[in-house]
Amino acid sequence: MPAKKKYLVTPALPYANGPLHLGHAVEYVLCDVFVRYLRSAGHDVVFVCADDQHGTPVELSAAKQGMSPEAFVAGIWEQHRADFRDLGISLDTFHSTNSPENKHYSELIYSRLKEAGDILRRPVRQTYCEVDRRFLPDRFVRGTCPNCKSPDQYGDACEVCGKTYRPDELISPRCALCGTPPVTRESEHLFFALSRHQAWLQDLVRSRRFLHPAVANQLQAFFDQGLQDWDISRDAPYFGCPIPGEKDKFFYVWLDAPIGYISATEKWAQDTGRARSAMDLWAEESDTEIHHVIGKDIVYFHALFWPTVLKVARFKRPVQLHVHGHLTLNGEKMSKARGTMINIRTALEAFDPTYLRYFFAANLGPGPEDFDLSLPEFRARVNGELVNNFGNLANRTLSLLTGPLGGKLAPAPGEAGKSLVEAALARIPEVVSAYEALDFRAVVRTIVEVSQSANQFLQARAPWAKVKAEPEVARADLSDVSDVVALLATFLAPIVPSVTEKLFVQLGTPPLTFADLGAGRALLPRARALGTPAPLLPRLEEAQVNRLVPPEELARLAAASGKPAPAAPSPGAATAADAAAEEIDIETFARVDLRVGQVLGAARVPKADKLLKLTVDLGEGSPRTIVAGIAEAYGPEALVGRKVVVVANLKPRALRGIESRGMLLAAGTGGASLKLVDPGDLPPGSPVK
Ligand code: MSP
Ligand code: ZN
Repeated sequence: MPAKKKYLVTPALPYANGPLHLGHAVEYVLCDVFVRYLRSAGHDVVFVCADDQHGTPVELSAAKQGMSPEAFVAGIWEQHRADFRDLGISLDTFHSTNSPENKHYSELIYSRLKEAGDILRRPVRQTYCEVDRRFLPDRFVRGTCPNCKSPDQYGDACEVCGKTYRPDELISPRCALCGTPPVTRESEHLFFALSRHQAWLQDLVRSRRFLHPAVANQLQAFFDQGLQDWDISRDAPYFGCPIPGEKDKFFYVWLDAPIGYISATEKWAQDTGRARSAMDLWAEESDTEIHHVIGKDIVYFHALFWPTVLKVARFKRPVQLHVHGHLTLNGEKMSKARGTMINIRTALEAFDPTYLRYFFAANLGPGPEDFDLSLPEFRARVNGELVNNFGNLANRTLSLLTGPLGGKLAPAPGEAGKSLVEAALARIPEVVSAYEALDFRAVVRTIVEVSQSANQFLQARAPWAKVKAEPEVARADLSDVSDVVALLATFLAPIVPSVTEKLFVQLGTPPLTFADLGAGRALLPRARALGTPAPLLPRLEEAQVNRLVPPEELARLAAASGKPAPAAPSPGAATAADAAAEEIDIETFARVDLRVGQVLGAARVPKADKLLKLTVDLGEGSPRTIVAGIAEAYGPEALVGRKVVVVANLKPRALRGIESRGMLLAAGTGGASLKLVDPGDLPPGSPVK
């Protein structure tokens, strides 16, 4: 366990021009899980965010609603704050960039850049609308792409051919606000002399600690071309901070936005008194580690401008930028126009955000890869892993211990459970390093494996059958499993805190922490009194998930992702198959023994892309091995704990050298489109008729 350290952790500051969506939620959950882990490990953590309120888009959104920018951003700030709160993001402070603190630090930093001789003046030719009487940001000029001639493209880049250009290169450019052709006007701008710092910056970007190598490589192109100086001023009218000593000039929003990290820290210091000022954390010599969590689209600002500005202004620089990929929905970019840009509020109204926190964590690795919210997989994973595999383990164990066994734990670990508990404890170091590396996907994988091993132990030992005849044997086994449950709750706490808080009460203990684990206090005293068991989290229902997206889009998305539509499975494929099949009589069909099974374990079969080797409980005492061709549709993690329908009297067959006893029923035409038939919550062994 690393020594206690001081951290300042920030997510990117969301633009104050609209509601937060699930893409934002990925970042805030990611950050929150990291922060909760750090706190659990005993570190001193400050976790702040703010709304990014300046700039032309915000100003124009306000105007559209007939509001002043100040009134508009105040309303958005309230909404964002509520979203953060209800998603369980444990921010210490949520501030804003249109604030006195941000004005103060922006001016201070600018004065230091100027003192250092790093502010330059240069004329800039820019598109200007004589009707609106303002300079137009690139995105507010539209016209025909000079390269591929696609109509109606933005002034900075063509969405069709990908070419980037200046707005005055567009063919027949128009002002996006009023439609008139803009003119070009010259004005004097202020530049930050970034090019002077190229060598220093290149070393920083290449240092392994600062950036993931995949991200550092993408920045290489900028260095190869040679860094350009950075235009940090904008002409009036502009919603932003006026530049001291200049007339009608404002800081470009991307100058004062990251300074929002500092001013949010200042607000935190003033509100809590836990520091004299932000400078306790941000002065060059501070002993706080600064970590920024950002999406891949804003790396350029955070990896090039920001550290250089901080260096020249003699502030502390971030030790690390954690860059994540983008969230897609059923394999598609989320789109406002299609209604698939799901707002956080919509999700909060549909179900407990715990499900999203779990799913995001289960998919987030240390690198910048995109990841998909596939709605069927979302439900399968949270129900299979969190609700069934882990939730049932905890609930079964505590119900037996408090019910028939009177709530008393065995005084010491038993013979049989010893290796189970030891194996679980042996996983602590790998969970710790996965958390430190923000590799939450690996954390979840370990949790599922350990939980699975505890379920297998229970299945093999069947304590429920022993509570009468051999209560002490049952008590010993269940007490050992309860140690594993407490350990898993500690592992899971940063991800799904509302679930584990409940569970620790049921376990009869204050929450265990990573600091406890590090200090060798992983095993709880056996003399304690247990609380009252209760289910931790209900299953996530299909109807709840379907509330995320309008119904017509849902069907289209399901078709696009190659999975059957979740709402109304199309009978098309089955009918075609029926037409070809020979008729049988009812007696023939009755010879098929269909039973409910529960998947206890699942693993890929080496060198067989389509096959999974499953351990399935059919209520027969010992589970069966079934090899199923469903690996393109389901990952092993999605299956554990899940109920399936099994053809139980199929003759054993060998698949890839593994004896398979039985077959799972699935609908669909094969490959990734298969959908396992869901028998609901009936116990293993129940007949299916
Ligand atoms: N205001 C700037 C950041 C200033 S930081 C000094 C901004 N705001 S944003 O609202 O557009 O995005 C905020 C964060 O959410 C960014 O890190 C961005 O990458 C992230 N995401 C926005 N859409 C996303 C997805 N679809 N998926 C994952 N993260 C995404 O940029
Ligand atoms: Zn105009």
